[in-house]
Amino acid sequence: MYTQSFNVPDGPSPTPVKHDIKPVLTPEQQHVLDRAQMRFDEVIDADGKIEPKDWMPEAYRKTLVRQISQHAHSEIVGMLPEGNWISRAPSLKRKAILIAKVQDEGGHGLYLYSAAETLGTSRDQMLDALHTGRAKYSSIFNYPTLTWADVGVIGWLVDGAAIMNQIPLCRCSYGPYARAMVRICKEESFHQRQGFESLMVMMQGNAEQQAMVQDAVNRWWWKCLAMFGPPDADSTNSTQGMRWGIKRVSNDDLRQKFVDATVPQAKVLGVTLPDPDLKWNEARGHHDYGQIDWDEFWATVNGNGPCNKERLATRVKAHEDGQWVRDAAMAYARKQQQRQQQQQEAA
Ligand code: 3HC
Repeated sequence: MYTQSFNVPDGPSPTPVKHDIKPVLTPEQQHVLDRAQMRFDEVIDADGKIEPKDWMPEAYRKTLVRQISQHAHSEIVGMLPEGNWISRAPSLKRKAILIAKVQDEGGHGLYLYSAAETLGTSRDQMLDALHTGRAKYSSIFNYPTLTWADVGVIGWLVDGAAIMNQIPLCRCSYGPYARAMVRICKEESFHQRQGFESLMVMMQGNAEQQAMVQDAVNRWWWKCLAMFGPPDADSTNSTQGMRWGIKRVSNDDLRQKFVDATVPQAKVLGVTLPDPDLKWNEARGHHDYGQIDWDEFWATVNGNGPCNKERLATRVKAHEDGQWVRDAAMAYARKQQQRQQQQQEAA
């Protein structure tokens, strides 16, 4: 059955981590474990950083692998909807920008896979979970990019939502993830601004171009609001994630911040956000907004969105087509190692 959930055990790992088997401990071992747990709790309570060689509870490690690998998958699957437009960009300048942006997303995936690898899982295991439909990636990348305006809207709204979610992750309690996020956020914020700028240019164009932007905004708005994840009441991972300092701000609070930040930007751009219930609420000091279609969100997360199957098939093909590159890189590394060994033996 097709599922994106990350709950099927991986194959053999280079550094196997036994998650489920609880060994019987001697009192001395239990004492050592209790002290390790106490030290971990102290670091978390003091808002410090956990590093790869520090002891951590298995559930913390598992949660991080789940979240970081899903995040990495989102970055590399996120290359696909925009990548479709590289050959059709309207000018050389826009093509160069888009190539650089898609390449940045690939780089984000690499930082994140590296961060997850420090937790004792291999990149092959993570990619296998993605390619066999066991791992989740962001719902947002399962929708089609129908016109050039979609590329601008992805920059403005999708990257805008991603940054809103990812800035707090720069303060995540797990050091390698937090440090990866600092660089990613810098690049994402550039992506967001280039998307807005490209839409501004279209909005200064003719009526057809303006209508294209409005149509793209209409199609992406609600999907971007859903990107932040289910309402807090239905968010199964939030409480523990926040207790561990992995997640800093709840799904609903981030969604609200995104709505409040985006409304004035839409005014500057001259587009309407497609929500008749969207209005400023003086008492709350925030914008009210309408109902998100959560049935549609879950259908997409569970593999039945408009492009899920196409995205996975493209990703798997790209991986298979890239086998010769990985083989060549390994052959080169082996050759370098042999050469070094020969030089050391000769010296
Ligand atoms: N798409 C797919 N699945 C989603 C989702 C979404 N938009 N939002 C939530 N879910 C899933 C969760 O993964 C979880 O399933 P799981 O237990 O099987 O993993 C389930 O729905 C319940 O959600 P929770 O709120 O309990 O889950 P979390 O506490 O993990 O919060 C999250 C979800 C906010 C996405 C969080 O994992 C997170 O902040 N992740 C890191 C950031 C990230 O992955 N962003 C994805 C977009 S990256 C991007 O857009 C690339 C850029 O280039 C544009």
